[in-house]
Amino acid sequence: MKPLKPKIFSMSHVYSQFLLLFSLSLISLLPIPTTRAQTNQTDKMALLKFKESITNDPHGVVGSWNDSTHFCSWVGVTCGRKHQRVTALKLEGTDLGGPISPFIGNLSFLRSIMLRNNSLSGHIPQEVGRLFRLQLFLLWNNTLSGEIPTSLGNCSQLRIIDLSANLLTGPIPMEFGSLINLQELYLERNILTGGLPTSLGNISWLVIFSVAINSLEGAIPHEIGHLERLSMFEIGLNNLSGIIPYSLYNISSMTILSIPANQLSGNLPRYIGITLSKLQFLEYGLNKLSGSIPESLSNISGLQTIDLAGNNFMGSVPTNLGNLRELSILGLGHNNLGHNSQKDWDFLNSLINCSKLEYLGLRVNNFGGNLPKAVGNLSHQLMRLELNSNNIHGSIPAEITSLRNLLSLDLRNNSLTDLHLPLCSTGGSKRVKKHVLKLRIIVICLVLFFFLLAASFAIFWIRKSKRKTSTFSAFEGLLQVSYRRILEATGGLSPNNLIGVGSFGSVYKGTFDSEERVVAVKVLNLQRKGATKSFLAECNALKRVKHRNLVKVLTCCSSVDYNGNDFKALVFEFMVNGSLEKWIHPEPGENHSLDFLQRLNVSIDVASALQYLHRECEQPIVHCDLKPSNVLLDSALVAHVSDFGLARLLSTSNQVSEGKSSTIGLKGSVGYAAPEYGIGGEASKEGDVYSFGILLLEIFTGKRPTEEMFMDDFNLHSYVKVALAEKLLQVIDPILALEGIEEQNGETSSYQTQLSRNIQKCILSVLEVGLTCSKESPEERMKIEDATRRLQMIKRTFLLE
Ligand SMILES: *[C@@H]1O[C@H](CO)[C@@H](O)[C@H](O)[C@H]1NC(C)=O
Ligand SMILES: *[C@@H]1O[C@H](CO)[C@@H](O)[C@H](O)[C@H]1NC(C)=O
Ligand SMILES: *[C@@H]1O[C@H](CO)[C@@H](O)[C@H](O)[C@H]1NC(C)=O
Ligand SMILES: *[C@@H]1O[C@H](CO)[C@@H](O)[C@H](O)[C@H]1NC(C)=O
Ligand SMILES: *[C@@H]1O[C@H](CO)[C@@H](O)[C@H](O)[C@H]1NC(C)=O
Ligand SMILES: *[C@@H]1O[C@H](CO)[C@@H](O)[C@H](O)[C@H]1NC(C)=O
Ligand SMILES: *[C@@H]1O[C@H](CO)[C@@H](O)[C@H](O)[C@H]1NC(C)=O
Ligand SMILES: *[C@@H]1O[C@H](CO)[C@@H](O)[C@H](O)[C@H]1NC(C)=O
Ligand SMILES: *[C@@H]1O[C@H](CO)[C@@H](O)[C@H](O)[C@H]1NC(C)=O
Ligand SMILES: *[C@@H]1O[C@H](CO)[C@@H](O)[C@H](O)[C@H]1NC(C)=O
Ligand SMILES: *[C@@H]1O[C@H](CO)[C@@H](O)[C@H](O)[C@H]1NC(C)=O
Ligand SMILES: *[C@@H]1O[C@H](CO)[C@@H](O)[C@H](O)[C@H]1NC(C)=O
Repeated sequence: MKPLKPKIFSMSHVYSQFLLLFSLSLISLLPIPTTRAQTNQTDKMALLKFKESITNDPHGVVGSWNDSTHFCSWVGVTCGRKHQRVTALKLEGTDLGGPISPFIGNLSFLRSIMLRNNSLSGHIPQEVGRLFRLQLFLLWNNTLSGEIPTSLGNCSQLRIIDLSANLLTGPIPMEFGSLINLQELYLERNILTGGLPTSLGNISWLVIFSVAINSLEGAIPHEIGHLERLSMFEIGLNNLSGIIPYSLYNISSMTILSIPANQLSGNLPRYIGITLSKLQFLEYGLNKLSGSIPESLSNISGLQTIDLAGNNFMGSVPTNLGNLRELSILGLGHNNLGHNSQKDWDFLNSLINCSKLEYLGLRVNNFGGNLPKAVGNLSHQLMRLELNSNNIHGSIPAEITSLRNLLSLDLRNNSLTDLHLPLCSTGGSKRVKKHVLKLRIIVICLVLFFFLLAASFAIFWIRKSKRKTSTFSAFEGLLQVSYRRILEATGGLSPNNLIGVGSFGSVYKGTFDSEERVVAVKVLNLQRKGATKSFLAECNALKRVKHRNLVKVLTCCSSVDYNGNDFKALVFEFMVNGSLEKWIHPEPGENHSLDFLQRLNVSIDVASALQYLHRECEQPIVHCDLKPSNVLLDSALVAHVSDFGLARLLSTSNQVSEGKSSTIGLKGSVGYAAPEYGIGGEASKEGDVYSFGILLLEIFTGKRPTEEMFMDDFNLHSYVKVALAEKLLQVIDPILALEGIEEQNGETSSYQTQLSRNIQKCILSVLEVGLTCSKESPEERMKIEDATRRLQMIKRTFLLE
C-alpha cells in the first residue's frame, strides 16, 4: 500500500530539478538586459527590505546578510554571473517568520522564489506580479493568508506554482489562464473557495493540477479536457458537484485521477480503459456516481488503485480484473453492486491473478450466495477483506485461513451459519438502553456517595478550623501542608477516595479546609529517601508554572509518615470530568463521548500545554509521560495536562545529578514512550512530541497503542498510516463515524451521510499531524508549535464551513 503522496512529491521534485537546471542554463545564454531605473543597488535594497520584514529568524539566516560580503554571496541569494542581479532566492526550512516584503517585486531578474517550509505569514504581495521572469514560485508549508494575487497572471514565464499547505482564502485567480508555460499548479490544503475557472483549460502545458482539500464548489469545467498533457488531476475533499465532464476521459496522459469526497455525479464511460490507458490511480470514493463498472478497466495494465466506494454503482463486478497485475486496492464498498446471487462471485476467480492485492472492500452491497473457496487463493498480500453487510449465505470456507497476512476481516451482517461471532440482533439497542439505565443509577449513587463524603469532610474541617486559631487561611499560599492535613482531607488515604493510579503515584480526591475546596492529592511512589530541600524547591518552581491547559499545582507535602517512611505528595486543583482516558474509552454502558470538535479542542489544549512547557515557560520542562490518563478535563471540558515536571521532581529527590535532564526509569508508559527511549535515549522534547502524536491518533481512532493487535513493528502509527492510504472511515473512532446521523433500524444509512465530509476532511488532516509527530526518527517529528498551529488551522477550516 504505497501512500500516494511520496509519489507526487518525488514527481514534482524531478520536475523542479529539471526546471532548475533548465533555468540555470538559460541564464548564461541570455543577453544582459540593461535597465536604467533598476540597478544592482535596487536589488540590494530589496533584499534588505526583505530582511527587515522578517520578524523571526532563529537560525540567523537573513541575520547574516550584511555589508561584510557582497549581496550576491548572502545565504540563499543567487546572482547572474555577469550582471550581478539576483536570480534566485532560496531559503527553505529555516523557520523564517513574518510577512514577505512587497519590495521583492523589485528583484526584477528573479527567476526562482523558493521559500518552502518556513513560517511566513501575511498576504502574498501583489508586487510579485512584476517579476516577469519568474519561473518557480514555491511557498509550500507556510502560514500565508489572504487571497492569491491575481497579478501572478502576468508572470507568463511561470512553470511551477506551489502554494500548498498555507491558509490562503478566496478564489483560484481566473488570470492563471494566461500562464501558458505553467506545468505544475499546487494549491492543495488551503481554504480556497469559489469554482474551478474555465480559463484553466488554456494552460496547455499543464501536467499537474492539485487543489485537494480546500472548499471549492461548482462544476468541473469541461475545458479541463483540453489539457492534453495533464497527468495528475487531484481535486479530492472539496465540495465540487455536477456531472464529471466526459472530456476528462479524453486525456490520454492521465495517470492520477483523484476526486474523492465531493458531490460529483455521472457515469464512468464504457471506453475509459481505452482512452485512459496510462491510469494508475482511479480515486472516485465518496461521490454520487452511478451506472455500472466498465469492463474496459481491465485494459489499463498499470492500474494500482480502483476506489469507487461510497457511490451508487450497480450491476456486476467485471470478471476480467485479473488482468490488472498491479492492482493493490479495490474499494467497492457502499454501492449497489451484486444481485443477491451466486453469480456475484464470478469476478473473485479472476482476482486470484492480482498478486499485489492488499485491500478488497465489498461491504454494504448486495453480494449473495456462498462465499467461494477461491477466496483462499486471493493474493497473499491481502491485508484487509471487508464483506460485511451483504447477503452472503452458508459457511465460511476454511480456505480463508490461507490468507496469511490478513490484518482485518469483516463478515458481520450477513447470513452466515457457522460464525463464532455473534450475529447482530435488532433488539440490541433496547437491551443496551436498559443496561445504560442501570448503569446510570449506579453512577448517580456513586456521585451521591462522593458528594456526601466530601460534604462530611467539609463540615469536619469547618468545625475544626473554627476551633483552632488558624494562621493558615488559604493553603495555596503555603509552601507545604502537613502529612496530617493530607490524611484528614482524603479520609486517611481511603480507597474510597482513590481516583487514579499512575506511574508516579496514586491520586486521591480530597477536601481541604473551610472553603470546601475539592482537590486532587497525588501521593508519590518513592523508591529512595530523597533530598527534601530540593523537592520543596522543585515543587515551588512547579507552583509557578501556570497555564490555562496545565493542572494547577496548589501546594505540596514533604514529610514522614506514621511508619517513619518518606512521604511526598502534591496537591492539585480537582478536575470534575476526570481523565481523557475514560472519555475516549468509555466502559460498556457509559454513554458519554466527545464529538469531533470537542476532541479537536482537547488536542489543541494538550498541544498548547506542551508548547508552553517546551518553549514558553521560564525553565523548559520535558513531560516524559504524556498519555490520556494524564490529561484531565474540567467542567467545561477544557483539557489540563497533569504530571508535568514530575520526572525532574522525582529525579532530583532521588538525587540524580542535576543539570542533565536524566530521568532514568521515568520515561513514560508503554505505547506512548518514544522508541529512542527504549535504546537509552535521553528524555527529550521530541520524545514528548512522539507521545503527543500517539495521543492524537488514539483520540481520533479510539484505539489504544497497547491493544493486542499491535505487536512488533505493527503499531498504532503504522496502522493509521496503512489505513489512511486506503479509506479513511475504517480507522476513525466508530463513535465519530456516526456523528450527526440517526441510526435507522440498526442499518447504516447511506455512506454519504454517515460522516459529514467536512469532519472527514478535518480528521484526515489531524491524523496526518498525529503521524508526523509519532514518526520513528526524532528528527523527522514535527515541532510542537507547528503541531499546535496546524491543529488550530484545522479547527478554523472546520468552523469556517
Ligand atoms: C554594481 O555593478 C557594478 C558594475 O556592473 C559593480 O562595479 C558594482 O560593484 C556593483 N555593485 C554592487 C553593490 O553589486
Ligand atoms: C556579517 O555577517 C557575517 C557572516 O556572513 C558575520 O560573520 C559577521 O559577524 C557579520 N557582521 C556584522 C557586523 O554583523
Ligand atoms: C521598490 O518597491 C517598493 C515597494 O513595492 C517601491 O515603493 C519602490 O519604489 C520600488 N523601487 C525601488 C527602486 O526601490
Ligand atoms: C520540508 O520539510 C519536510 C519535513 O521536514 C521535508 O521532508 C521536505 O523535504 C522539506 N521540503 C523542502 C522543500 O525543504
Ligand atoms: C513544514 O515545515 C516545517 C519547518 O518549518 C517542518 O518541520 C515540517 O515538517 C513541514 N511540514 C511538512 C508536512 O513537511
Ligand atoms: C499586468 O500587466 C499589465 C501591463 O503590463 C498591467 O496593465 C496589469 O495591471 C497587470 N495585471 C495585474 C493583475 O497586475
Ligand atoms: C483561452 O484562449 C483563447 C485563445 O487564446 C481565448 O480566445 C480565450 O478567451 C481564452 N479563454 C479563457 C477562458 O481565458
Ligand atoms: C456543498 O455544495 C452544496 C451545493 O452544491 C451546498 O448545498 C452545500 O451546503 C455545500 N456544502 C458545504 C459543506 O459547503
Ligand atoms: C474525445 O476525443 C475525440 C477524438 O479526439 C473527439 O472526437 C471527442 O469529441 C472527444 N470527446 C470529448 C467529450 O471531448
Ligand atoms: C481490452 O481487453 C480485452 C480483454 O479484457 C481485449 O479483448 C481487448 O482487445 C482489449 N482492448 C484493447 C483496445 O486493448
Ligand atoms: C491467470 O493468469 C494466467 C496466466 O498468467 C491465465 O492462464 C489464467 O487464465 C488467469 N486466470 C484467471 C482466472 O484469469
Ligand atoms: C487454490 O488454493 C488451493 C489450496 O487452498 C490449491 O489447492 C489450489 O490449487 C489453488 N487454486 C489455484 C487456481 O491457484
